[in-house]
Amino acid sequence: MQDLVLGIDVGATGMKGGLVDVEKGEMVSDRFKILTPRPANPANMAKVIGEIVDHFKYKGVVGCGFPSIIKNGVAFSAANIDQSWIGTDVSKTFSKISGCEMVVCNDADVAGMAEMSFGRGKGENGLVMIITIGTGLGSAVFMDGKLVPNTELGHLKFKDSIAEKYCAGSTRKKLDMSYEDWGKRFNEYLIHIEHLFSPDLIILGGGTSKKFDQYAHTISISTPVEPAKMRNNAGIIGAAVLAQKKASIAKLM
Ligand code: BGC
Repeated sequence: MQDLVLGIDVGATGMKGGLVDVEKGEMVSDRFKILTPRPANPANMAKVIGEIVDHFKYKGVVGCGFPSIIKNGVAFSAANIDQSWIGTDVSKTFSKISGCEMVVCNDADVAGMAEMSFGRGKGENGLVMIITIGTGLGSAVFMDGKLVPNTELGHLKFKDSIAEKYCAGSTRKKLDMSYEDWGKRFNEYLIHIEHLFSPDLIILGGGTSKKFDQYAHTISISTPVEPAKMRNNAGIIGAAVLAQKKASIAKLM
């Protein structure tokens, strides 16, 4: 099997790729990023996927995290991307343009898998939640290390709207809030999450987790809350590792 696998993290704002040593869980190339085109529809985004694969002159299985509910490669939601994605087979669309086999899963789920395998969640049992804070609010839920996929806790009904609208990273930017003020909002969401799920550990990922020091003191829940160790490359690494695993299983069958 391949040791270096291309991982692509498709976000609502940027689409990023990198070559990953899947044994070590490390990105070994530079990160190549292209801004997510608008409208963020299948044709425009597939073109960017093709450019990322070409940039690395890559052939082989590709892992891809995608910002929507994904079942068997098909998108079932489209919160911050074009609605025409709903019902589209993301794996097939990206395979067609790149000529590579594509393994596609929810972006927060793959970032969570990387964090559980190589980062702060390594060896952690019980109920561990990874919340990714960026353009959207993503979630990955693990029970004794096993993923419960597509949890979408950023879309919990909250404050007459949904949690994501109230406290995603993009909301902080849009409202020009300090990390302190945003942290107070985010803490309200964490109180709700703790009340509903009683998790054992909450790990924060995504762009806003890099600024954890600036809002850590606003968090008041008793569940331990810590920043992800892998920071923003978790999506790329997790996607590559997952693709490698799926490809190995397919070979055995
Ligand atoms: C989407 C999720 C995604 C999250 C982070 C949300 O708006 O519904 O599927 O994981 O954003 O990108």
